[in-house]
Amino acid sequence: MVDDRPAILSSVVASQMGTHAKYGGVVPELASREHLRAIVPVVRESLVQAGVTLDELDAIAVTEGPGLIGSLLVGITYAKALSFSRGIPLIGVNHIEGHIHAVVMESRMDGDPVKFPALALVVSGGHTHLFSVSENFQYALLGRTRDDAAGEAFDKVAKLLGFGYPGGPMIDKLAPFGKPEVRFTPAKMKGNPLDFSFSGLKTAVLRWVEQRDMTTEIEQRRELLRVNAAPSVAEWLAVTPQATLDLVASFQAMVVRELIRRVEMASVEINAASVIISGGVACNSDLRASARQVSCPVFFPRPSLSTDNAAMIAAAAFGKLRSGTFSGWDLRAKASLALV
Ligand code: KG4
Ligand code: ZN
Repeated sequence: MVDDRPAILSSVVASQMGTHAKYGGVVPELASREHLRAIVPVVRESLVQAGVTLDELDAIAVTEGPGLIGSLLVGITYAKALSFSRGIPLIGVNHIEGHIHAVVMESRMDGDPVKFPALALVVSGGHTHLFSVSENFQYALLGRTRDDAAGEAFDKVAKLLGFGYPGGPMIDKLAPFGKPEVRFTPAKMKGNPLDFSFSGLKTAVLRWVEQRDMTTEIEQRRELLRVNAAPSVAEWLAVTPQATLDLVASFQAMVVRELIRRVEMASVEINAASVIISGGVACNSDLRASARQVSCPVFFPRPSLSTDNAAMIAAAAFGKLRSGTFSGWDLRAKASLALV
């Protein structure tokens, strides 16, 4: 029998974190330049690792949006040039759809496939969105953040406390050393109960910091980052008092609680057969552990497929390749492209 399970032949990711870390967040202009620098070597390396030549490709998939316009333009221009010069069909893909397909693809690789209708939580630095996903990949938006994305809240709180960028991984590593006993009131919102809000929580952390004199410890952590770009957990702990660890643990617990609460509500509402949680914040260990409470099977991608990668874009393009849905030369970068 022919095995038609998907396979990843190569997945090369050029991280720009080192470039942006010293600015405490992504600098759009630098991101475009880094994309320009990386795109040719990354494509070459991925072909070498996969052991295929350009002429053996059935299609070239590229992210059309949402995202930073300069970075999207680099990818689209390069993909169009390759597609035109080699006569290979072009497929534009929505980045959010890529995050969802990362999970669907991996579940098919493992032989324990996602069942439909599925509930998808896409939770990253730019998104906190809940979608229902049908068998033929029709999407309906069920809820979204009204202000900050969850990853953005992790990044802003980490920056405020002197833990550098990106904040999610550091908070994740330090939270187990604190007690989640600082009480934050969940945001009260009128309207759609499946919408999220994280800016109030971020402001509550800011107020907590302002009410205490934390200047010295914050400065110590910033100094640590100046001399060592990637401090160990032990080094962070040496400059972080227990009260701050408790704050970090409480912040993370609150974000995770808000995410899981909406996931539970929405999965019941659509009678979901599975839940997909994807995007950078899906790497979070507390979120992964807490997802066990959800009443239907929850699928997370492995961490390397949770954060941005090209394999997920290829996975989302696969159905379009099968149905012959290709993009024309008018494919444009769309910074605020919505999924639905
Ligand atoms: O999906 P992604 O790589 O890029 C976007 O499309 O935004 O997600 C990056 C986001 C950052 O905000 C980062 O702090 C967060 O994912 N993140 C985490 C963890 N790892 C990455 N947040 C919480 N816990 C983590 N372990
Ligand atoms: Zn992403």
